Order: sequence, then structure tokens, then C-alpha cells
Amino acid sequence: MSSRLRLLIACLATSVVLAPLIWMWSNSLMPDDYSVMDMGYADYGGGAAATAAGGHAGLHAGGMDITEIVADADRPADVKVHLVAEQGEFTLASGRTVSGYTLNGQSPGPEIRAVQGQLVEVTLENRSVPDGITLHWHGVDVPNAMDGVAGVTQDAVPKGGSYTYRFVAEQAGTYWYHSHQVSHEQVKGGLLGALVVMPEEQDPGLVDALALVHVYDGRHTVNGRERELAVPAPPGATVRVRAINTDNGVMSVWTSGAPYRLVAVDGNDVHDPGQVEDKAVLLTAGARADLEVVMPADGSGVRVEMGGTAVALGEPTPPTSKPERLLDLLDYGSPAPIGFDPADATRSFDYVIGRRPGFVDGRPGLWWTINGHLFPDVPMFTVTEGDIVRMHIENNSGDEHPMHLHGHHVVVLARDGVRATGSPWWTDSLNVADGGAYDVAFLADNPGVWMDHCHNLPHAAEGLVAHLMYTGFRTPFTIGGTADNTPE
Ligand code: C2O
Ligand code: CU
Repeated sequence: MSSRLRLLIACLATSVVLAPLIWMWSNSLMPDDYSVMDMGYADYGGGAAATAAGGHAGLHAGGMDITEIVADADRPADVKVHLVAEQGEFTLASGRTVSGYTLNGQSPGPEIRAVQGQLVEVTLENRSVPDGITLHWHGVDVPNAMDGVAGVTQDAVPKGGSYTYRFVAEQAGTYWYHSHQVSHEQVKGGLLGALVVMPEEQDPGLVDALALVHVYDGRHTVNGRERELAVPAPPGATVRVRAINTDNGVMSVWTSGAPYRLVAVDGNDVHDPGQVEDKAVLLTAGARADLEVVMPADGSGVRVEMGGTAVALGEPTPPTSKPERLLDLLDYGSPAPIGFDPADATRSFDYVIGRRPGFVDGRPGLWWTINGHLFPDVPMFTVTEGDIVRMHIENNSGDEHPMHLHGHHVVVLARDGVRATGSPWWTDSLNVADGGAYDVAFLADNPGVWMDHCHNLPHAAEGLVAHLMYTGFRTPFTIGGTADNTPE
């Protein structure tokens, strides 16, 4: 064989290997500016398609602009808050200096408190965050234009700019807010705070204690304090501790010195919560748990442990180790009506999380997949207002994922095929274990375009993001573009 022929064969062989790789690589490159409505493929969940013509393109034609989906513009605000965001060094309540982001000079940002039914108006001003910012109201089913996702429901607020969020706090409960621009970095850096919606009527004797947990620079904090948070509580008093996990991993919450009742999950009251002893509540990333404790009559203290820190109610007591058993929400409390029948579902989706090698935006790696597809070639879960929706979430990816759907609360029907028999388990942040599966249902009653992603935010930045979209609605915003929208 001539050396020329040998070279030719070698070249051919190489290109047979390389050509598909180059094709895969170039196919994965993301445009500088694109609409999430163009991402991936429409998944109608077995229901009717968007238009008579059907297909993905049908989603774009006409429809209502989501910027029109706002709270009543004529209604005056009941709670008005002005938040100024800055990037830089700041001092934790414990005195330690860390670098990140602040709202009104502090992190966590100011606690926003409203009474159920009040209209909350928050003006966000960006004084010095170069990448731009937004605020997302985690767990609150706001009108779509108020959801605070850069490139999906608004443009990132640039340095010198501002944006006003208005929504009615319809449901009493514990929520939080955080940036949804470069969120894997800005949330970690402290662009976040608590939002508490109080019921209209509240027992005046109740002690209400907020416990927002966040890790700054590797330091575990409660409400920005490194040491435990001391909350005065007289003997016999009922204390409600509102635990918020703002980090990327799971944390456990338990009490010592008295049992507790888990009275609310993700801002939803639990029906008939029983007393719990020697069991921890698993709080996934983004989730909230409200624990109610009755202080012992003998004046001794109660300790609520959470994620490497604690809340000391009354007299300080020593730390205890984590109970071996977890409280299982599948059969905790007793059933109550959920307002619709999941058996009448008009759409049914799969959200199966896996992992495989490939390219995302030209970068080779081992990437998360959704229903076998790599970002951005992921399903666009498409619904029509009024649909009853079921979703089967399954995880075979080798890691656990805290899944979060914006704008809706989902109710758990089953875990690993075992039906839920306790209180309706309404949630917005669901920990899906590796090898695990959940069946959930929700009512499509909040039109717009909504993220449905992993709240371990680096995972989201790696492409574990899909969207839920309503037919007849469209967003004018784009990822990238002049505002440099980077929601994850
Ligand atoms: Cu708490 Cu899409 O986020
Ligand atoms: Cu994840």
C-alpha cells in the first residue's frame, strides 16, 4: 500500500469518528439570544395541541403577552418595600465579613411580612450588581409577569435600574425571595430574604420565630447569625418556628426538649398534624417547614436543630444528634379535600431525570437529561388553562434533585408507587432521591410561562431546567440578548 493510500485511509477513519462528534458539538451550540418558547419540543401530555395547525410553532402565533399578567394595577399597595441591591463585602450578624450581595445593606435581606390578602409591592433597585438582578418569590403563586425570572418573565434589572413587583399574598405561610439572574451565584452570595404571610387571625399568645438558614462562605447561619439563634419563650407558650432552607442541599430539622408538630410544609397548612418525637423533617433546597412546639411547663428550654445551626427556645440546652428516622409526609396527618380529582387529569407528563455524556453549548461533559434529552432540547410541558395535570417525576441520574415548579403548588399522589394517605401534601420543593419517583398533580390555574427546575442551583445552571407553558400566552423576553439574561 502506498503511503498516500495509507494516509487517505487514516484520514477517512478519523473523520468517521470525528464527524458525528463535530455534528453533535455544533448542534449543541446555543444562540446568543433565544426565547425559551423555542427550546426543545412541545410536550402536550396527551392533551390537545396548541393550535389547529399543532406543532411547536403554533405556540408563538398570537396569544397574550405575559407582561399583561399582573396584579390589579388600580389597587393600592398594603405593604410597600424598597430594596436596594449591592455587590460587595458585608458583615454577618455574627460580625464576620463575607463577600457577596446585600439588600438594604444586609443579607439575608429584610424580612417581608404581610397579612393574607394584602397587596405587596416591592421596588427592587440595582445599585451595583454588574450582572443584573431579579427577585423571584419562591413558593408564591404570583401573576406570571411578577415571577422574577430573567429572560422568561422580565429582563434582568441592570445597574442603575429598578423593577416593581406587585402581588396579592393570597395564602398564609412561609416563603422566601431570591434573585433569578445568575441564580447559582447570586443566591449563594446572599441575594435573598424571607417572606412571611400571616393569617388574618392569629392567636396573640403565639411566639413566631423565623429561621432562615444559609451558608455564607462555608459558615452555617440562621438569620445571618453563626451561633444559634436565641428566641425568648415563656413556659407553656406555643412557638412556631419557620425554617427556610435557602441552600443547595438537603438539611434536617428536629427538636429536643419537647416534641413538635409539623404544621406547614412549603407554606401549606398540614391537615391534622400529629405530635412527632425522635424523627427529623427533611428540608430540601428551597423548602420550608413550620414546626410548632409547646414550651415545657417546668421552664426548661427547647432546641430546634437545623442544618448545622439551631434555634434555642427559652433556656439554652445542649445540642443533640440527628434522630435516625425521618418524618414521612406520605402518611402524616389526615386526608382533606384537594379541590380537584387527579383521576380526571387532562394531561399527564413525564419528567424523567437521567445523566449522560454529550455536549451542552459546545462543552463536553456528563450532563443531566430530561426524558433522555440534553438542554436545551428538553420538553416544553404545554397546558391549557383549566387543565388538571399529572406529572411523573423520576430520577435515575446518580444524584438527588430538589424539584421546583414555579407559579403552582403540586400535591403528592404517590412516592415510588406508594400512594399518599396522610394530609394533602402540597409542595413546591420536592426532594427526588436517586432511584426515586413521585407522582404529583396540580391545577393549571395560573397562566404564563413557568420554570420547572432543580433547585440545587448549580444543577440548574448545568441544564436541569424545563418550562411549563400555557397555550395562548407568549413571553417577549429572551435568554441572553442585550439584558444578558442568565436565569440560572
Ligand atoms: Cu427558588 Cu426557580 O427558584
Ligand atoms: Cu439537581
